[in-house]
Amino acid sequence: MAKSKTQFSCNACGNVTNKWSGRCDACGEWNTIAEDTPLSSGPSNATLGSAKGRSVPLTDLRTEETPPPRTMSGLDELDRVLGGGLVPSSAILVGGDPGIGKSTLLLQAAASFASKGLKTIYVSGEEASAQVRMRAQRLGLTQAPVQLAAETNLRDILTTLETEKPALAIIDSIQTMWADSVGSAPGSVSQVRAAAHELTSFAKRKGMAVILVGHVTKDGQIAGPRVVEHMVDTVLYFEGERGHQFRILRAVKNRFGPADEIGVFEMTGKGLAEVLNPSALFLSERGQPSPGSVVFAGIEGTRPVLTEMQALVAPSPHSQPRRTVVGWDSGRLAMILAVLEARCGIPFTGLDVYLNVAGGMKITEPAADLAVAAALLSAREDAALPADTVVFGEISLSGALRPVGQTENRLKEAQKLGFTTAIAPKGGKAQVGAGMKLTRVADLTAFVGDVFGAG
Ligand code: TYD
Ligand code: MG
Repeated sequence: MAKSKTQFSCNACGNVTNKWSGRCDACGEWNTIAEDTPLSSGPSNATLGSAKGRSVPLTDLRTEETPPPRTMSGLDELDRVLGGGLVPSSAILVGGDPGIGKSTLLLQAAASFASKGLKTIYVSGEEASAQVRMRAQRLGLTQAPVQLAAETNLRDILTTLETEKPALAIIDSIQTMWADSVGSAPGSVSQVRAAAHELTSFAKRKGMAVILVGHVTKDGQIAGPRVVEHMVDTVLYFEGERGHQFRILRAVKNRFGPADEIGVFEMTGKGLAEVLNPSALFLSERGQPSPGSVVFAGIEGTRPVLTEMQALVAPSPHSQPRRTVVGWDSGRLAMILAVLEARCGIPFTGLDVYLNVAGGMKITEPAADLAVAAALLSAREDAALPADTVVFGEISLSGALRPVGQTENRLKEAQKLGFTTAIAPKGGKAQVGAGMKLTRVADLTAFVGDVFGAG
């Protein structure tokens, strides 16, 4: 009998090694390597040489089949992030920090899909059925035709799905699932992988959609959702800051729709409420125009979203001044500070810099560069931008401003929310609606001169 080998795998990225170490070589995370049993089934390379496989039937690309219709849940924010409703036999992963509201979201989604006539089974491996029912009561969903199971044994779950034949199964969470064919403990990389593989291939074979919940884990013993990202069609992350009521559902991978799409929700006493106009919400806490505050006209997926960039610049008591960023990339901030210094002669040496995207949003668009530069300058010069102005544009290392896409959409959204002026890079075509003034700027130096009368 072959000796069973020990292997170690990283719970953050799934990298497999044959020795333990404190830091994963593949992803650089600390304390994420744990012992794991390798998947034993299947022929080894040695037997593959002699044993014969069956020849797989091949087909061509032509098709007369029309794609099966998607099902809309009626929760517009969720449907849009899915790329326009739920695709039959698709596998979806919903990741997020513990306690962010994944179970709440998916119970609401289960109820919505079920009341649209989709046979839906919700399997909870974390809570007892009574707890799930209590949550449903709190959410006012007790009448929805969702079927519940509290189970962690994968074999039993698959048998149940086989007989019940639902159109949608929700597995909360993949880390609690336990496949008896795998020797290691629930939550380990091989268990999570095996369970995700079994569930997604079952879904494809039987024409059932499956939604897997995955907790983002900060340390050691439990595998994170990243190890199953490649197995599913759609990866959504549910994000939010503690202390904020807003929750953002973001598509990071979608075989059936645009990635980078977001849906915005608000956590209330009665579950998650959809936020249909996020711009209004993100700007609602904005008071009088103040130095360091600039409104950025951004695009999230297919939708324009306005957010407020806040900067604070203060003399630093430290020999190494602080650079603190919330909701944006800190490398990008360093780049903009460097461009301001090198191209416009505005140094930030000896100054602490804090940058915050209001409302708990995370912005990844390069179009936010100019808004960030404006917020930094405004904070440094202690001069507020006019309250009715929005800013967008990408900054290149030369200090030139690059035009960005969807200018018209950005302007329309800004106008809808009562803004009258936009500052944007030169170039690109855009029709500006009546009542909106568009100031085009060629480079950062001109921007500094135009807006702050310096440089
Ligand atoms: P939950 O969905 O259990 O999070 P997850 O599944 O991601 O771990 O959400 C838990 C939090 O949501 C908890 O702190 C309570 C809060 N909550 C509300 O504020 N209102 C509600 O109606 C519900 C059901 C939960
Ligand atoms: Mg949960």
